[in-house]
Amino acid sequence: MRKKVSIIGAGNVGSTAAHWIVAKELADVVLIDVVEGVPQGKALDLSQALPIEKSDVKVSGSNDYAASAHSDIVVITAGIPRKPGMSRDDLLHTNFKIMSDVVQKVVAQSPESILIIVSNPLDAMAQAAYRLSGFNRERVIGMAGVLDSGRFRSFIAAELNVSVDNVNSFVLGGHGDTMVPLIRYSTVAGIPLSELLPPERIEAIVQRTRDGGAEIVKHLKTGSAYYAPSAAAVEMVEAILKDKKKILPCAAYLQGEYGIDGYYIGVPCKLGVDGLEKILEIKLTPEEDAALKKSAAAVKELCDVIGV
Ligand code: LAC
Repeated sequence: MRKKVSIIGAGNVGSTAAHWIVAKELADVVLIDVVEGVPQGKALDLSQALPIEKSDVKVSGSNDYAASAHSDIVVITAGIPRKPGMSRDDLLHTNFKIMSDVVQKVVAQSPESILIIVSNPLDAMAQAAYRLSGFNRERVIGMAGVLDSGRFRSFIAAELNVSVDNVNSFVLGGHGDTMVPLIRYSTVAGIPLSELLPPERIEAIVQRTRDGGAEIVKHLKTGSAYYAPSAAAVEMVEAILKDKKKILPCAAYLQGEYGIDGYYIGVPCKLGVDGLEKILEIKLTPEEDAALKKSAAAVKELCDVIGV
């Protein structure tokens, strides 16, 4: 039997995630949204692309969570996006309210599922979903590191005029201004980045990565990025569905790892059929450690506000 992935929120991120999943023929997809007609219309449109794409999966849309029952994975994208000038943190109260409603309905329909959280502010929303669902930490994982390292990798590949496939990088920490790109672990065909680019170019790319979401919001004016965020979520979906044991930077609930206890923050995670199968602890320099702790403090601040 094919796997089932439900996507909550049929906006730009949700519907584009559905697009990547069916294009890769990974699973049947159910789109859920509160707006009447939108999940149905987008699902119907997408299902009519399947013969052209030669993809034998089913896509449906509904306003009723019953359609999402028994999902293997539920990707939660529901929430409002940023407008120019807003930070991800400005979305906290509205999106927490939405998350509270969504998680309760998702858990009722798919108590065995794995949740991938995409709504912003990412780390705090992952923490909210973790607390509200009552699931163990293996089954509530936040997206963001894959997106942030995707941005970092794309800028490096463009700067050096090399294949994106050659560029490996790790961006840790929260999905916000305090994210922590690890230069020491960034390589191009195995060559450390520091041997290929001068420090000031690396710093400029790091800064552009930190501002990557805001740069797109500024262009779009009415919303935020969605191609890369949805592609990032789907890389996580694929790693889990195919039990790839793939190591990806994701937001995970730390219980003492990296000296952080009781918060979601971006760290290297092994994803497989059980969801978060392992958190890899790498040795950080004092500066990197301080940056990660600062990032965790920013997440804690948000979590304290909403009491999760
Ligand atoms: C971004 C938003 C989606 O980084 O968080 O583009």
